[in-house]
Amino acid sequence: MALQAHLGSITAPTLSLHKKEARWSPSTKETVFFGTSVSDYQAAISDLSSLIIISNNRRALKRGCVRAQTTMTTTPAINRAAPEGKKTLRKGSVIITGASSGLGLATAKALAESGKWHVVMACRDFLKAEKAARSVGMSRENYTVMHLDLASLDSVRQFVDNFKRSGRPLDVLVCNAAVYLPTAKEPTFTAEGFELSVGTNHLGHFLLSRILLEDMQKSDYPAKRLIIVGSITGNTNTLAGNVPPKAYLGDLRGLSAGLNGTNTSPMIDGGDFDGAKAYKDSKVCNMLTMQEFHRRYHEETGITFNSLYPGCIATTGLFREHIPLFRLLFPPFQKYITKGYVSEEEAGKRLAQVVSDPSLSKSGVYWSWNKDSASFENQLSQEASDVEKARKVWELSEKLVGLA
Ligand SMILES: NC(=O)c1ccc[n+]([C@@H]2O[C@H](COP(=O)([O-])OP(=O)(O)OC[C@H]3O[C@@H](n4cnc5c(N)ncnc54)[C@H](OP(=O)(O)O)[C@@H]3O)[C@@H](O)[C@H]2O)c1
Repeated sequence: MALQAHLGSITAPTLSLHKKEARWSPSTKETVFFGTSVSDYQAAISDLSSLIIISNNRRALKRGCVRAQTTMTTTPAINRAAPEGKKTLRKGSVIITGASSGLGLATAKALAESGKWHVVMACRDFLKAEKAARSVGMSRENYTVMHLDLASLDSVRQFVDNFKRSGRPLDVLVCNAAVYLPTAKEPTFTAEGFELSVGTNHLGHFLLSRILLEDMQKSDYPAKRLIIVGSITGNTNTLAGNVPPKAYLGDLRGLSAGLNGTNTSPMIDGGDFDGAKAYKDSKVCNMLTMQEFHRRYHEETGITFNSLYPGCIATTGLFREHIPLFRLLFPPFQKYITKGYVSEEEAGKRLAQVVSDPSLSKSGVYWSWNKDSASFENQLSQEASDVEKARKVWELSEKLVGLA
């Protein structure tokens, strides 16, 4: 709350923009403006406004205003010689989902280039991933592409079987892949009939990480980590997280009923479909899952469980479903107006740090970075850190993916 109050006091121009957008009533939602519905512009402005927030976050940090920050490190170098104080002679083995573009690819590149990691690129489009790896100059001996479609639980299980058969150890798992469908008017579904954003971003990763935990436990690597990429947009303790539609899981009635959109709502809270909200809800599930993993398994296994907000990476494919105007304005707006731009390369280095930097070994942390690229432990919103909700999401998800 302190964070919100501080940011609120330094973002008056931003707030007036939000207020103006927030006044649009549902009846104006379908009004067409230069060939695009107002709701599409709302989505675009919502996302653009999140850039302002990031910029203001940075200014707040500069002024020492952000109370959420608890510890900071200014050592972005990855893979020092002695992770967690113990040396290892072999390369680390890391699986990164969605490594065919954006943050996942940049992270794969950073880790592969260090010469200390073999990256398993877990991707739905094998050829695209192979081409992407080559296009960024990754050496063949530093990566393997394996097929994984998170929108199919069968594919997740098949991936795990194939990975086990490969005989590789598993030291770090990075759940990075995501879909974002802010302009979708109707829900689409995974192979098992779950709404696509939550089905892919949360349920697919939930099953993957649960069944791979055993392999991580077997690893002799001294610093085992499970990382689930989060987002500022799912955190309502920030102004970005307060841009409508806000993340809200409610009493989980939609998740409990299976998110199938036929007899039940495709949304976790049981409400009407909203693609932008479904993405934000899925990110809350990602962050809750990381903490539930930490509570259930950290002490017993020694595995570090973390999440992060890598910064706003305006150029990635995440925005591919957005309106053309948004895709055109988003990167320059962030680069030149809010100055909140984070390049894919920089974001990749940040995630690579969470994979391998000994100074980021604390478990249960949601990492963020300030303008000097120094990492700090950030605070999650009330909902994204709700212990009881995390337990319920875990138990309902177990049933949906067939683990309970
Ligand atoms: N961009 C940002 O500003 C930002 C900010 C905060 C957090 N994040 C998070 O960063 C992560 C990466 O996003 P990004 O910005 O790098 O977007 P991106 O470039 O679109 O990358 C998303 C990746 O997910 C993959 N993917 C999508 N559906 C999949 C499925 N069913 N099975 C397997 N892989 C699938 C995509 O594969 P294809 O290449 O085949 O499409 C792609 O490789 C996400 O978790 C996102 O929430 C991004």
